[in-house]
Amino acid sequence: MTDKTLVTWHEHRVQRKRGCVVWLTGLSGSGKSTIANHIDFKLHEMKVTSYLLDGDNVRHGLNASPERLESEYGSEFANRFGLSFAANDRSENIRRIGCVADLFCSAGIVTLTAFVSPYRKDRQLVRDAVLKSGGDGDFVEVFVDTPLEICESRDPKGLYKKARAGEIVGFTGIDDPYEPPERPEIHLASGTESVEESAGQVIEYLKNLGKIG
Ligand code: ADX
Repeated sequence: MTDKTLVTWHEHRVQRKRGCVVWLTGLSGSGKSTIANHIDFKLHEMKVTSYLLDGDNVRHGLNASPERLESEYGSEFANRFGLSFAANDRSENIRRIGCVADLFCSAGIVTLTAFVSPYRKDRQLVRDAVLKSGGDGDFVEVFVDTPLEICESRDPKGLYKKARAGEIVGFTGIDDPYEPPERPEIHLASGTESVEESAGQVIEYLKNLGKIG
């Protein structure tokens, strides 16, 4: 099928067994990156090819802020392509990383993502896209369900303090919404259980799914 931009999909000759996308969502400070890192490490020990795409890291490069891009690309470019935390920019952050995760998945990799991804619609669109490319089991949504009070008490980067003081505007959970998943494949009680326990649940799920041996 050809779209209006005259770009045509090209089928590849090599058909690989797909990996899957393990999509961790939750508040800042909920433990997404820590749990995802632990899963990644465990999979590496099991000789499973995996990769972790982490929000804070991806926002250093592919999805950099306008401020990061400005010196090299100029302000017009930076404002057009750089991503802030405004609602549309968060959507574009998730759209881009959803596409990247789908590509990794198609390369046979167990692809872990750790993004706040606060809006249900954005997560649903990624789910739909990944399932369309692959099939059942290719998208595993993991709700890292640590209550706001606990995230705020951890405050590893001091951002909640700044948000409460009004130094950051539009902070998720404070003055920007977090829409929890309604039917995640995995729901982690990450406020009360250990990182090892949470990671173990995800690994078990992937084993039962037949995605890892
Ligand atoms: S998302 O909303 O677009 O999915 P993402 O996961 O990429 O967010 O980045 C979240 C990280 O950026 C947080 O862990 C936090 O360190 C930092 N951050 C900075 N400003 C904000 C903000 N306004 N809301 C949430 N996180 C923010």
